[in-house]
Amino acid sequence: MSSPQSIDSSETSSQRTPAHVAIIMDGNGRWAEERGMDRMSGHAYGVEAVRATVRAAMQCGVRHLTMYAFSTENWNRPSAEVDALMDLLVRSLAAEADELAGQGVRLRAMGSLDRLPEGCREALAGAETKTSAGDKLDLTLALSYSGRWEIVEAFRKALVSGVAPGDVDEDTIGQLLAMPNLPDPELLIRTGGEQRISNFLLWQIAYTEFHFAPVFWPDFRESHFEQAIEQFHSRQRRFGKTGQQIQRTSS
Ligand code: FPP
Repeated sequence: MSSPQSIDSSETSSQRTPAHVAIIMDGNGRWAEERGMDRMSGHAYGVEAVRATVRAAMQCGVRHLTMYAFSTENWNRPSAEVDALMDLLVRSLAAEADELAGQGVRLRAMGSLDRLPEGCREALAGAETKTSAGDKLDLTLALSYSGRWEIVEAFRKALVSGVAPGDVDEDTIGQLLAMPNLPDPELLIRTGGEQRISNFLLWQIAYTEFHFAPVFWPDFRESHFEQAIEQFHSRQRRFGKTGQQIQRTSS
């Protein structure tokens, strides 16, 4: 049986709702600067956009939502901003965990979590425990995360566990990623105007459809999520096949 990460080339229609949507939340700083506010206000307003996105994902029947909350590269920001972001994360987790649990959300974090301040790791552990029974939406926060970090970690795990070179295939690598049972995202949404991947989910996005939402993250709401899903439905996913082959399969 193939692992959830492998590409299912028989699935060429985009008519169904994507099971897994990944999001790059970008533009908090610019949103704040446009309003004469400090960058942290942009992050704080971004929390409401996270809430709206969770609601929209559940409403649309999405099963897995992965949000890029703090990248490995974000550690290079001024320490005052890093500290304030960690603090916002701790406060948001404390404030939202019960609500998320009530909604049936299971929250988890992936990344180099041992780099996070202790208070942050505790808040994450608390929220993960409170929401562990959630069976409607898997919400994964990518924190202190980068795609290259994840691939390096996978190599390390392979070497430590003594995987033989002949046993290495895509499924083996998929099983060594940070969230081995998470299917690849079918749709990746990025806000904020940039059209790049910024070291997010490098292995998993081999055949992911991209949607660039024309708003800064704090302004992202349910309607933007729904527009992304609608655009996804209009895409023809070919997975390397020809358009003719796809027509034959779907007729
Ligand atoms: C990118 O905007 C955003 C971040 C680095 C942080 C994302 C954090 C949040 C949305 C708030 C809290 C999240 C949770 C999960 C509680 P940017 O600062 O790079 O914006 P810019 O490109 O305009 O400078």
